[in-house]
Amino acid sequence: ATTLGASAAQTGRYFGTAISAGKLGDSTYTTIANREFDMVTAENEMKLDATEPNQNQFNYTAGDRVANWATSNGKRLRGHTLAWHSQQPGWMQNMSGTALRNAMLNHVTQVATHYRGKIYAWDVVNEAFEDGGSGARRDSNLQRTGNDWIEAAFRAARAADPGAKLCYNDYNIDNPDHAKTKAVVAMVRDFKNRGVPIDCVGLQAHFNSGNPVPSNFQTTLSTFAGLGVDVQITELDIQGSGTDQANKYRLVTNACLAISRCNGITVWGVRDTDSWRPGDTPLLFDGNGNKKPAYTATLDAL
Ligand code: XIL
Repeated sequence: ATTLGASAAQTGRYFGTAISAGKLGDSTYTTIANREFDMVTAENEMKLDATEPNQNQFNYTAGDRVANWATSNGKRLRGHTLAWHSQQPGWMQNMSGTALRNAMLNHVTQVATHYRGKIYAWDVVNEAFEDGGSGARRDSNLQRTGNDWIEAAFRAARAADPGAKLCYNDYNIDNPDHAKTKAVVAMVRDFKNRGVPIDCVGLQAHFNSGNPVPSNFQTTLSTFAGLGVDVQITELDIQGSGTDQANKYRLVTNACLAISRCNGITVWGVRDTDSWRPGDTPLLFDGNGNKKPAYTATLDAL
């Protein structure tokens, strides 16, 4: 096949991109996005600050723009994200204890209910583990409501949208030997053992000099899959350029294809100029919308 989405579909997988509502008027952007990708993640529009700017006043305007663009162009949606320490609305940042726990659960329930039936997979909880060697939970206002906040969020999401796959999503969980990866593996194993509703792990896969693509990335995917969950690469971008970057995209794509429970890959933006890392060139299309060597390597690997 001649596009990323159609090539991924040949093995039952998807190939997605983050979409920003503010760029849907840019025809170069939408032409590439519509042609190449068959899964969409709202880059910011379904986050907590966007969807609940004031407590119990929900705003789905921007999220629905992205969702409607996706569905009207025949694409599926990943939901991102229901519970996170970052991009919280101001009112939530200042909360704690039972009030925050209940506000978080209400947020999960309301947003998952609004998008019920439209979401292939939700990133229910994002980035709950600390970096470095401890393997501990990240300190945050949500974590301080009690260690069970993650499973409580997953149960609320399942009740609100039983048809969506429920994912735990994080970055720097790509290397199987790192403490953070092992800690997420242990949490998922525990959730599966105790019947906490979790269906997938999302690996953001933001790769750069501080977090290089591990040569044994496939081992990480197979370790998660072996726990009985799907694995998705949810926010892929790789610092670099040229052949070196292309080789890294090929390694990541081949790793996913080698694991039957790796359902699909999403890149975190269309062109390099759309990247959240604007000083870098980590995506598959250059600023003019031309295919890069990384694009060709990825397409050939699919
Ligand atoms: C980023 C967006 O790309 C930016 O536009 C925004 O300013 C900050 O968030 N991990 C995640 C994503 O889960 O939601 C983040 O997206 C990138 C890191």
